[in-house]
Amino acid sequence: MRVLKAPGKTTINCAVNGKLQTLHAFPMERLLDVLREQLRLTGTKEGCGEGECGACSVMIDGRIVNSCLVPVAQVQGSDIKAIEGVATDDQLHRVQQAFIECGGAQCGICTPGMVLAAVNLLERTPNPSEEEIRNGLAGNLCRCTGYMKIFESVIRACRKESPQRHRDTEQTEGRK
Ligand code: FES
Ligand code: FES
Repeated sequence: MRVLKAPGKTTINCAVNGKLQTLHAFPMERLLDVLREQLRLTGTKEGCGEGECGACSVMIDGRIVNSCLVPVAQVQGSDIKAIEGVATDDQLHRVQQAFIECGGAQCGICTPGMVLAAVNLLERTPNPSEEEIRNGLAGNLCRCTGYMKIFESVIRACRKESPQRHRDTEQTEGRK
């Protein structure tokens, strides 16, 4: 089917979750909006809309970015991964599984961004230290969980360590 382009719109070719896409959008449209409204990938959330919360995180060419700050014209030729591309077929990513097991998601607004940040961290650093995990999640804010369950989820995904053992370790270290 022939797609008519509105005046001022441009054509952007990119890959999203491993699938080639041809987008027609105004150059300064936010990648966040194009993903949600044009591709119906509504797993990417809007929190602040100002680059502060990380709810809109996606990976572009292997780097985590806030899609609310990315004009869609910038993704020409890029490889984008949104939260819908993290699981394979019917298999959840181990980070997603760990979030379920550890209660790392409450209202869920921050969860896609947190999961993507953790997946990105594990891709870059397969065996991260606790400090590297904290740094890896530093760009993502959560209003619900107090962060411990999220942190425990990522610990479990990284090391298959039980949250209880991690809590015990934290408490022991806190007493030192
Ligand atoms: Fe993009 Fe908050 S919505 S950083
Ligand atoms: Fe609600 Fe994080 S689970 S903002």
